[in-house]
Amino acid sequence: MKREYVIASCTLSFFILLIIVLSATDWGTGQSGESIVEKPAVPQAVKNWPAEDLKLGQVTAVSVNSALQPVIFHRADREWDRNTFNMSHHYLHSNLGPIADHTVLTLDPSNGKVLEKWGANAFYMPHGLTIDRHDNYFLTDVGMHQAFKFKRGQNIPTLVFGELFVPGSDHGHLCKPTSIAVASTGEIFIADGYCNSRILKYNAAGGLLRVIPSPSEFLSLQVPHSLALIESTDRLCIADRENMRVVCPRAGLYSVKGRKESELTIQQPDMGRLFAVAAKGKLIYAVNGFTNQMLPVQGLTIDPESETVIDHWSPEAGFSNPHDIAISATGETLYVAEIGPNKIWKFDLVPPKK
Ligand SMILES: *[C@@H]1O[C@H](CO)[C@@H](O)[C@H](O)[C@H]1NC(C)=O
Repeated sequence: MKREYVIASCTLSFFILLIIVLSATDWGTGQSGESIVEKPAVPQAVKNWPAEDLKLGQVTAVSVNSALQPVIFHRADREWDRNTFNMSHHYLHSNLGPIADHTVLTLDPSNGKVLEKWGANAFYMPHGLTIDRHDNYFLTDVGMHQAFKFKRGQNIPTLVFGELFVPGSDHGHLCKPTSIAVASTGEIFIADGYCNSRILKYNAAGGLLRVIPSPSEFLSLQVPHSLALIESTDRLCIADRENMRVVCPRAGLYSVKGRKESELTIQQPDMGRLFAVAAKGKLIYAVNGFTNQMLPVQGLTIDPESETVIDHWSPEAGFSNPHDIAISATGETLYVAEIGPNKIWKFDLVPPKK
């Protein structure tokens, strides 16, 4: 009798414990039921940064180097307007020659002063810049229809993707490529871009590995404008701009056993046209752009695993035309680049208010 009572009460307490554990894990789960959403760090604009007027052209990209310095890619005196390309995507102003000014500026994170200038007489219509952990520079130029890898400070690229001024959709051509992501293992992802709406994945030596989507995959992109890798979950998150969503297919850096092999899709009515994404841990920080009069231009914090937007943020003065976003390797600082007015913002990522 005594023994049976002990077993019965043990079983009972086990079930009570199980219920407690299950209901506790339920608290934070999102739609997919896979992750616990914690309150994310909040971007807080740093006042009077940069301290002086940098006289920038359209700032199309920002990335952060290994010294935690922001590096921007800007168009100096050149702008993308309705006369820049014709209907077949050919750049019409190649006769102007490349931009004479330095287009790549390294800034002092403490006051925003220019520390280094580079990239004069090299680019026609800058778009994307990504710096990998070894301080290699990956740039895209929509006018040239090319993407490049440069070792820091060198003027001859070590890799060139696409053919100069020739838009195309085969494996040897790009068409207005927008953005690049580089894995710690060296794989290169190029978002290609305004006309082809595909992602090309290369090995570190520049050999093509895969095209996303491949014919059997049902993933329809419309202007993939920015890329962010979340390596811990093997996701490549894409700002699928004209589809007004973020989609995160598998990056395929390693094989993952799990329930969800298909892409994660984050699409909510208030997101608007998503221009740029950056990763911090398993979260994505994003900026949208003008969509319609009803939707604010703002920053969004996204939890891809639960496929939800978990926070909204913007500087006090508001954003106008944010174009790119970057987060430092330490996860403490976030930068947003804008085109019109041309501007670079610095944000501290601060713990959320309880
Ligand atoms: C666009 O310009 C290119 C280069 O000048 C030319 O070859 C092409 O035919 C033009 N396309 C259209 C649609 O006008």
